[in-house]
Amino acid sequence: MKNDDKNKSKLRSAQWFGTADKNGFMYRSWMKNQGIPDHHFQNKPVIGICNTWSELTPCNAHFREIADRVKNGIREAGGIPVEFPVFSNGESNLRPTAMLTRNLASMDTEEAIRGNPIDGVVLLVGCDKTTPALLMGAASCDLPTLVVSGGPMLNGKHHGKDVGSGTMVWKMHEEYKAGNITLQEFMDAEASMSRSAGTCNTMGTASTMACMAESLGVSLPGNAAIPAVDSRRYVFAHMSGMRIVDMVHEELNLSKVLTRNAFLNAIKTNAAIGGSTNAVIHLKAIAGRIGVNLELDDWLVGKEVPTIVNLQPSGQYLMEEFYYSGGLPVVLRRLGEQGLLDKDALTVNGKPIWDNVADATCHNDDVIRTFDNPLLAHGGICVLRGNLAPRGAVLKPSAASPHLMQHRGRAVVFENFDDYKARIADPELDVDENSVMVLKNCGPKGYPGMAEVGNMGLPPKVLKKGVKDMVRISDARMSGTAFGTVVLHVAPEAMELGPLAAVEEGDYIQLDADAGVLQLEVSDDVLEARLNKLKATQVIAKSGGYMEIYRERVLQADEGCDFDFLVGCRGADVPPHSH
Ligand code: FES
Repeated sequence: MKNDDKNKSKLRSAQWFGTADKNGFMYRSWMKNQGIPDHHFQNKPVIGICNTWSELTPCNAHFREIADRVKNGIREAGGIPVEFPVFSNGESNLRPTAMLTRNLASMDTEEAIRGNPIDGVVLLVGCDKTTPALLMGAASCDLPTLVVSGGPMLNGKHHGKDVGSGTMVWKMHEEYKAGNITLQEFMDAEASMSRSAGTCNTMGTASTMACMAESLGVSLPGNAAIPAVDSRRYVFAHMSGMRIVDMVHEELNLSKVLTRNAFLNAIKTNAAIGGSTNAVIHLKAIAGRIGVNLELDDWLVGKEVPTIVNLQPSGQYLMEEFYYSGGLPVVLRRLGEQGLLDKDALTVNGKPIWDNVADATCHNDDVIRTFDNPLLAHGGICVLRGNLAPRGAVLKPSAASPHLMQHRGRAVVFENFDDYKARIADPELDVDENSVMVLKNCGPKGYPGMAEVGNMGLPPKVLKKGVKDMVRISDARMSGTAFGTVVLHVAPEAMELGPLAAVEEGDYIQLDADAGVLQLEVSDDVLEARLNKLKATQVIAKSGGYMEIYRERVLQADEGCDFDFLVGCRGADVPPHSH
């Protein structure tokens, strides 16, 4: 059968281009100013390439080349590529945080897909928030959808050693604050870290989300690890372009792939890779858009899963080694062999996930460990609850210090991030290595966008004793490249007058990560009295603009920080003509 005859009457784009009337004339005529011949409007799938290219998103700055390769594949398969831009959330430049605009980019994506003559869509994603943002928007439309990640940067190289994106900054800055290196030595490392196009080369949030896309089945196998500048990334993009055309013919919509079991596969994969805590928020938000029920407690399915990927920040290596060792297919195979994968979960190549990975070969068992020799026995994200976090909090065991996983300490409280910055270096600060550092008002509403400040640096007076880690608790997020015994995403947040708001200097806090407990040693009555007092005096300043929508409509961390009015799949019914 010729492509032209396939699903002749089913193409969504035919409702724009398929009629011999005034409306068809108008839709085709303007497109023809790009030199598109008439026969291209006749029953060929129109494939949108949703591009987050931007020179202000350096991790995605090579996406024009990637888009060209996707287009080659689409044309070879008989489709018509149409590339379009959406808001690009660059993690490194955007202030106050790229998370603030994740929902904005998802709205942009959703409306661009639904409102345009598109039969299927390829999402070009890379830098942290671009992956969830585009998947959220696409999920609300539910067309055939395929993810192509931009791939990680080559290994950073500094003084003959491999250095990882982000992780190097955190480590060297602590060394500088402890007086172990000079400012000049710190600054000299700057150019060594980011040597090529691509996303952060650690198992930070970008790499995690690329792995999430692959384990969810929304990308072709091998997506997560191929370096950005490796020629095989371009081949991958080409093959993805070819595949999306067939997905349209097969009516393989996103909801057939993004099932609840696919999300459970992704949660277990996150444990195995030592992935970012940000995935907790993003997977919830994506699930909400496609109509899958996913709760914070669903992360418990990953609790006993060992971390087997030996990558920074939890381990030693970087994404290049992960790729050369076999990449995510090896991890998925090992999960499947342990009975930890729903092998039947459908993927975008039309096959169950197990068919894609059953023969994956590992080329370095130190980079991708076996389950007999894991990096960490129980690697899954810990879900914590207690009177300090009634709706939950999370902690990443693979980034934490084993000796702090059970800890009781005296609270040193910072009311907000400015307060933290003003007092952390004060030699008079009443803090030692047994203290529990508490940071308030950095949640979704308190610091709109929920900044990645949860891994607040340790006080210099403690660092100078050689201490590398302390328990930290906040309603903030943490960069996927960071490390430490850091309790994050406390919900409800302080700005919502969750119990975190009521913690006072000198209170004692108990953390038992294994038991999933986070308890403030203050009676219910005292806690309530403190919160009532805060409620009576709380003033929330109006900011205007997008920030105001954000503050008013963003959901809490346990709900994925989506806007309340965006949750759900609204489908891709064609909007009416306006001419
Ligand atoms: Fe873009 Fe890390 S800053 S991927």
